Amino acid sequence: MRQTVAAGNWKMNKTPSEAKALIAELAPLVKDAKNKVIVCPTAVCLPAVVEAAKGTNILVGAQNMYFEDKGAYTGEISADMLLDLGVTHVILGHSERRQYFAETDETVNKKVLKALEKGLCPIICVGESLEQREQGITADLVRMQVKIALQNVSADQAKTVIIAYEPIWAIGTGKTATTQQAEEVCKTIRDCICELYSCDVAESVIIQYGGSVNAANSAELFAQANIDGGLVGGASLKAADFSVIANS
Ligand code: PGA
Repeated sequence: MRQTVAAGNWKMNKTPSEAKALIAELAPLVKDAKNKVIVCPTAVCLPAVVEAAKGTNILVGAQNMYFEDKGAYTGEISADMLLDLGVTHVILGHSERRQYFAETDETVNKKVLKALEKGLCPIICVGESLEQREQGITADLVRMQVKIALQNVSADQAKTVIIAYEPIWAIGTGKTATTQQAEEVCKTIRDCICELYSCDVAESVIIQYGGSVNAANSAELFAQANIDGGLVGGASLKAADFSVIANS
């Protein structure tokens, strides 16, 4: 039985003080949540959020990290820095990072390998644009992204990753993929992992859906055989909404 995971991607929202207040509001609402609860604030909010989440069931993830251990990489953050803070997860390859910050499948793979080496759980994002969906290449593209992201990842490591299927056209648009579309691609991802490793590994991997997940649609999405929760943007900024999702 895989555990369902509700992860909130706060993106570039909330100051450290606001982030602390949001955790204080969220914590009592999710204390008995059915799903594993993770929040991913911006890097500057991580210390405040880790502190505020102490003694709660809320885990904390980062939105990005660099693949080198340390050195002359101005502006970057290493896995060790995140671990030292008490961060457990890291979102890698979000489409906004691919689109605006030139992340490629290759850099995502390097980051995945570093995160796993250090003991951080990567939340690997994949997904197609509207144009790619209309071209009929969704399955091919997502399979390629998954295969490259997992290059040189061992079977034991692969079992521990989280993959988030996020169709770009559904992110922040209010346009959720239909339950069937989301389930279909999440199943494609699981089948791909089964081919790459084994069906045993594929059965262990948590595969989330992301893209306009909200309090009204999360229950139906998370009830699908191959959807193990969601990566949630906008709705994770409101404690009331995110707590409903965390309990879906
Ligand atoms: P959204 O974002 O829920 O606001 O669509 C999801 C994401 O980008 O992870």
